[in-house]
Amino acid sequence: MARWTLDDIPWESFDPSKVEPEILRLVKAASLVEQNGGDYARYLCGVFHDDREFQRVAEAWGTEEIQHGQALGRWATLADPGFDHAAASARFTEGFRVDLAADASVRGSRSGELVARCIVETGTSSYYTALAEAAQEPVLKAICHKIAADEFRHYKLFLTHLQRYLAKEGIGFWRRLRIAAGRVRESEDDELSYAYHAANEAQRPYERRRSARAYFRRAYAVYRWHHVERGIAMAFKAVGLKPHGRLNLWAARLAWWGMRRHRRRLDRLAA
Ligand SMILES: [Fe+2]
Ligand SMILES: [Fe+2]
Repeated sequence: MARWTLDDIPWESFDPSKVEPEILRLVKAASLVEQNGGDYARYLCGVFHDDREFQRVAEAWGTEEIQHGQALGRWATLADPGFDHAAASARFTEGFRVDLAADASVRGSRSGELVARCIVETGTSSYYTALAEAAQEPVLKAICHKIAADEFRHYKLFLTHLQRYLAKEGIGFWRRLRIAAGRVRESEDDELSYAYHAANEAQRPYERRRSARAYFRRAYAVYRWHHVERGIAMAFKAVGLKPHGRLNLWAARLAWWGMRRHRRRLDRLAA
């Protein structure tokens, strides 16, 4: 059971005058990506096929992710009544599928899978915190706060199971670091770009590079230093590094500098 339902959202407080078109585009894309939670949960149940305890966790997690998509989709439809969330979801699922048949992790081990899951939840908890703080529209703010709290809880959940599996599999620091870095790089792959395309510009042909630029230019704009700093601390913990040391601070500064530099480049390309 999810910790909250769509009935807990204060829909009656919706204020159309506070909807920001750029954020609306991001919300439409996020509403599609979240809907993939069911497919990912099935994939995780395949990878952890003999671990009933973890399968139960994965199923509950998938349900919560789907609910994130529903809440964001409903808000996007309120903000833009012309947005057909069901049609956009169908478009997205048709163009981007998770490998459901897997019975072993694409990360090489279950610990590796859990490191990757921690990185994803680090990304989503930072992103929804940033969106909640950037959004002016009160209902969207409330939804993003709820989702960010879920994502942070998901991170802690996967981290707990990671520690359990590390005791059995014992994959080393460098391997964990490689998996984490690989998962960060994958955020620039098709899933987010294609979701942005399917949600916002389905009338034109899909060009991955153009959609990726359009998406990341807007997404980077909502981040502030403290989101990046916390995100790096969470990622550090997942790979087994001290989350509040000097190295963490340097890595956070580097990530923040890189993000701002990338954003400026994307702004120039869009001008
Ligand atoms: Fe989510
Ligand atoms: Fe999550």
